Amino acid sequence: MKTNQAIEQVCFDKTIEPIDPAMVHQVKLPSGPIMPVAAFGTFHSDWAQDYMKDATLEAIRLGWRHIDTARAYENEEVVGQAIREAIHEGYISSADDLFITGKLWNGHMSPKDVAPALDSTLKALGVDKIDMYLNHWPWPNVHTPGCAGDHRNPDAVPYIHEEFMETWSEIVKLKKAGKIINIGTSNHTKKTMELLLRDVSDDERPVCNQMEMHPLFQQTELRRYFESEGIVCTGYMSLGSPKRPGRDTFKEHRADLLDPVIQSMATELGVSPARVALSWAVQRENKSGGFVAMATRSGWISENLKAATEDLLTSEQILRISGDGTDANSGIDANNRLIWGQVFLWPEADGDWRILWDDSQVFETREKYMTYKAAWQAYMNVKQETTL
Ligand SMILES: NC(=O)c1ccc[n+]([C@@H]2O[C@H](COP(=O)([O-])OP(=O)(O)OC[C@H]3O[C@@H](n4cnc5c(N)ncnc54)[C@H](OP(=O)(O)O)[C@@H]3O)[C@@H](O)[C@H]2O)c1
Repeated sequence: MKTNQAIEQVCFDKTIEPIDPAMVHQVKLPSGPIMPVAAFGTFHSDWAQDYMKDATLEAIRLGWRHIDTARAYENEEVVGQAIREAIHEGYISSADDLFITGKLWNGHMSPKDVAPALDSTLKALGVDKIDMYLNHWPWPNVHTPGCAGDHRNPDAVPYIHEEFMETWSEIVKLKKAGKIINIGTSNHTKKTMELLLRDVSDDERPVCNQMEMHPLFQQTELRRYFESEGIVCTGYMSLGSPKRPGRDTFKEHRADLLDPVIQSMATELGVSPARVALSWAVQRENKSGGFVAMATRSGWISENLKAATEDLLTSEQILRISGDGTDANSGIDANNRLIWGQVFLWPEADGDWRILWDDSQVFETREKYMTYKAAWQAYMNVKQETTL
């Protein structure tokens, strides 16, 4: 349902001039193709679903050529419609003018479901191949769409490498069949990536990992590890996702766009805090990564893309945000993770969302997990008995 607030906020202004897509910075993927560093996000944050077609169409009109989609966003048809309208309007000559990223949803990681899931995605988007296909999360745990933060799925499991590899093999097959051009991961940790890289040949390696990154949650160490393996890192929630769903909102969170350093730099430069955050995302660490950002107003859609066309920040300003590990330049990273992922937790994580990210429960095989599970259950039984 459209709220009054949403109606007031959405604004498409056709008088704003497009940005030349050729001006947008690109990164060369290890597999060969180039990828625009700025990706237009299509996750609806629960409220903007009604506007994603128009927002995506406006993004294409204004010069965005990389569109980030996912089956989980439940709007691939709408994005496909925007692509067809963009062709009809003459903003692009065909879908080939776009770099489209899609994602395999957790609920489709069973090997038999992977090819049909991709086929549905291609059909909905109206394309016969996809530029980048990411495995959305490293385990098959699902939550109901729009669920509350206390949602738990009793069937959730930790990362089980042999099962992930079965999914990955299917993704690789689809790449070899020509339906996927580049393959990648999303939300992988260091350990899960090490296991994947250990067990694949050169042409089966992921070339991209999409992960949460913004000024107050920089993930520099993990990013450097992925890059050392030739994996390009794309940051999501690059603006700190001010309208993320309630389930991903916690009292401990800080807002990137309200950070005093980001705000004072914006004032110095005469731009918005959002522009500072996105310029930092593009310019940091030798300009080797990219960002995904969503907006439903032409002004913001255009401003956000502009961040990928010119280097606004000086190296001193980048240092003020990133820091260099010294007390003199500590930067502003606050380990402010927005997606805790608690809705994906499995029973043995015992309610601690940090376990999702710290690699303390990663298993090679289902058998090893079942052994752990039995021991954990036995421990819990004893604990319960002694408490009684
Ligand atoms: N791989 C994954 O697991 C994963 C997870 C989360 C997200 N993603 C992807 O990343 C994308 C971005 O994440 P996100 O949408 O949650 O967060 P975001 O891009 O950080 O923030 C989007 C919100 O910021 C506002 N905004 C946009 N431009 C602005 C500007 N210039 N100034 C002030 N506010 C501005 C928008 O408001 P309005 O809506 O009012 O325009 C929008 O609601 C998603 O759409 C999705 O494609 C991927």
